[in-house]
Amino acid sequence: MARVLITGGSGGIGFELARSFSKRGCHIIINGSNADRLSAAKARLEKEFGHAVEAFVQDLSQPGGAKNLYEQIVRAGLEVDILVNNAGIGLVDATEEIDYEADEVLMRLNMIALVQLCKLFLPGMYQKGGGKILNVASAAAFQPGPYSSTYFASKAFVLSYTRAIRYEAKGRGVQVCALCPNTTKTGFFDREGMKAPPMCADPETVAEFACRNLTRNKAVMIPGFMNNLARIAPASLKMRLAAMMRRLRKS
Ligand SMILES: NC(=O)c1ccc[n+]([C@@H]2O[C@H](COP(=O)([O-])OP(=O)(O)OC[C@H]3O[C@@H](n4cnc5c(N)ncnc54)[C@H](OP(=O)(O)O)[C@@H]3O)[C@@H](O)[C@H]2O)c1
Repeated sequence: MARVLITGGSGGIGFELARSFSKRGCHIIINGSNADRLSAAKARLEKEFGHAVEAFVQDLSQPGGAKNLYEQIVRAGLEVDILVNNAGIGLVDATEEIDYEADEVLMRLNMIALVQLCKLFLPGMYQKGGGKILNVASAAAFQPGPYSSTYFASKAFVLSYTRAIRYEAKGRGVQVCALCPNTTKTGFFDREGMKAPPMCADPETVAEFACRNLTRNKAVMIPGFMNNLARIAPASLKMRLAAMMRRLRKS
């Protein structure tokens, strides 16, 4: 039975990914920064699927957070066959208005922790000659995002990094893929202090799409026909739209 580690597995897309992998018979390890939310998610998964779920509390935005999580998992004697780097947050405002420390937390979580977890788990996967990494980027990876500048840039980073390490992993038995969802109905917008946009995907559909396409080893997964089309629209137009949407959705 493959063992899957999902960061940010206590809510939103990460929780639905845990459900989708569970349906496929995988053994689940979830992580989150909030102990109560994490144990509630563990209990829900165990009740629904009837087998034990491992849960590790770790704030991945903290310096050393990725390594702490890795060491907790190693100490527990667990091997990870599939790493899902899903935990991520957004921030919305003009760049000079976004709190200096909050911006750093975003960059640590969305980029640094993701890179470090890849670097920590890849050597073991190469040694075994097998394993998968799914990095959750976003449709935001395909354009700059005025009024959410670091979030959009962090997702462009995730996509670029994922494609590069996928290339390196070719022929070494390890599969590396990126998931690029568009707006999805989760707690993400509450955290940003924004209203959810009117047309959101549901996280269960996004997670099922991701699991299906991971089996097919699809390099860059974009759920939804329109989102695939939007990918090729001019960046200048998409930037104007992103800026407009952000202003309309401020709560
Ligand atoms: N929702 C969208 O529209 C959308 C679109 C494209 C891409 N995405 C990406 O999808 C991923 C998941 O987002 P979501 O929409 O599911 O958001 P969400 O509902 O807010 O869930 C975020 C998850 O990440 C965890 N998390 C947050 N900060 C953390 C930290 N410092 N350390 C460890 N875990 C942390 C949360 O757990 P705790 O509460 O315990 O910290 C939660 O389990 C993110 O990378 C996001 O950028 C989302």
